[in-house]
Amino acid sequence: MGIWKNRDIISIGDFAKEEIRQVLDTARKMEVETQNFASLLKGKVLATLFFEPSTRTRLSFEAAMKRLGGSVISFAEPGSTSVVKGESLSDSVRIVEGYCDVIVIRHFLEGSARLTADRVNVPVLNAGDGANQHPTQTFLDLYTIQKTKGTLEGLSIGFLGDLKYGRTVHSLSNALSHFAPEMYFISPSSLRMPRYFMDELKQKGIQCYEQESLSGVSERLDVIYCTRIQKERFVDPVEYEKVRGAYRLSRVVIEGLKVKKDLKILHPLPRVDEMDESLDTTEYAVYFQQAHNGIPVREALLTMVLGAVE
Ligand code: CP
Repeated sequence: MGIWKNRDIISIGDFAKEEIRQVLDTARKMEVETQNFASLLKGKVLATLFFEPSTRTRLSFEAAMKRLGGSVISFAEPGSTSVVKGESLSDSVRIVEGYCDVIVIRHFLEGSARLTADRVNVPVLNAGDGANQHPTQTFLDLYTIQKTKGTLEGLSIGFLGDLKYGRTVHSLSNALSHFAPEMYFISPSSLRMPRYFMDELKQKGIQCYEQESLSGVSERLDVIYCTRIQKERFVDPVEYEKVRGAYRLSRVVIEGLKVKKDLKILHPLPRVDEMDESLDTTEYAVYFQQAHNGIPVREALLTMVLGAVE
């Protein structure tokens, strides 16, 4: 576990397949033997620095820390910090490291988590940097896929929605490339995966296909990873209006498509209008379970980077 203590979790690309497996195995332990770990992080302090809104990531990190006996410091909103007086992110995080043992940061600028990690000596976990990466979400996505499909190997995955701005798709497609997948990227043409992510996948020899509709491919898929159109990242609101509501998954839509009986539908949430509540009671839907898996997975990551588990 020597490689984990004080390690930053910035980009999923920094993790080898075996390391990904180690995180998932530790998360499994956290979930199954939860009562054994109630004091594991006693005396440790987590700082959550969220410069963008969050429900799941922030609260599950905070809950994970508290369930392990640690404590949390935080600010109510970025507007209540000295950033509004002009303090740089770099200075802010150098101050915060003196108050805590580990930092979780979400920021609207790509590269902000890496910059934070370069400035401080406590481990830094990236909770989303702009449209770039969301690696801790990826670990819980992988955990959910493994738990519901029984394997990560050789699956056909369909990524649906906003693939341009959806940082969870960028991170997850990268991580899945270790597991011999077939990937279908389904989006409006203006929201396709950035070229550099596609090039990287192709260089690794991954079978990748891009298209604008689920029809014709739905029967091949083991997993559909649905995403919200990220309205807040569009520079031009007119461009958002053109793609708004491009996909709407519902019970009726899925029943009208050819799909595998054991298809699983994931979504990092929040959803807006791309996934109807009628889908929630189908056997395909695992997105609430997925969000709840944030607890054992983030417990695992915190204990590993704080050197508390072997
Ligand atoms: N999936 C996710 O990152 O959700 P939040 O924005 O609520 O943290």
